[in-house]
Amino acid sequence: MRRERLSVLANEKVGPYTLLRVGRGRIDPGGPGQFFMLEAPGRLLPRPMSLCLALPGELAFLIDAIGPGTRALCALEERDELHVLGPLGNGFRLDVERPLLVGGGIGIAPLPYLSEALGGPPAVLGFRSDWHAEAAQLVPNVQVSVEPTFVTALIPGGMDVLACGPGPMLEAVRGLAPTAQLAWEAPMACGYGACYGCAVEIDGAIKRLCVEGPVLCAA
Ligand SMILES: Cc1cc2nc3c(=O)[nH]c(=O)nc-3n(C[C@H](O)[C@H](O)[C@H](O)COP(=O)(O)OP(=O)(O)OC[C@H]3O[C@@H](n4cnc5c(N)ncnc54)[C@H](O)[C@@H]3O)c2cc1C
Ligand code: FES
Repeated sequence: MRRERLSVLANEKVGPYTLLRVGRGRIDPGGPGQFFMLEAPGRLLPRPMSLCLALPGELAFLIDAIGPGTRALCALEERDELHVLGPLGNGFRLDVERPLLVGGGIGIAPLPYLSEALGGPPAVLGFRSDWHAEAAQLVPNVQVSVEPTFVTALIPGGMDVLACGPGPMLEAVRGLAPTAQLAWEAPMACGYGACYGCAVEIDGAIKRLCVEGPVLCAA
């Protein structure tokens, strides 16, 4: 893990989302499902973001502008600079025989990098509109569902599910695939275990998602 000031290379629109591409500097991209803390201009605390793509010399993050921090990140321009810390947390285990990637909404963010690491396995992605579904272009070998059809309708049995998405989607995936690997979210202040801001109760146990997750086994 290291912290560096990196330069913005580009900020591209993908449907309603923004793909923020920064020069990599000497930061290791880590593994799929790991995350980085990104300085959000004008905000006190950095914001956690999954690595979306690790093109040579770059780190790319897919961002949904839902509040002041993410809006500031999406407004960055070429040659602006920001501090980036990472890679952080535990990502997806890649030792799976029949991988199926499952994503919902902005939860597809870590899947392009995960798909590359696994050689382009099948993926099922769910979105709330056709506009949001434009982000499916970032993931190869996909089947897309748009609400009112939920992505869980596209999950066949017998697959090793690796999923990221909103909490209710992850709970539903967990019911269908008890051995799934699930990438959870919680608001995070430090990203490396010091503040307990990300502590969540899962099955009666308190876990700091930034160090014990964000990817946890469903079982
Ligand atoms: C490990 C991890 C990886 C993430 N990866 C991505 C990513 O790749 N792309 C992306 O767009 N977002 C990602 N997020 C979510 C992102 O960090 C938050 O959306 C962001 O911090 C919100 O900041 P804000 O200032 O824009 O909005 P805020 O004003 O901080 O939040 C807006 C609303 O969202 C709620 N909220 C904020 N953060 C979270 C959270 N983590 N979980 C649940 N509710 C939250 C707040 O309570 C508030 O209601 C990730 C979060 C985690 C923990
Ligand atoms: S974000 Fe500080 S302990 Fe997890």
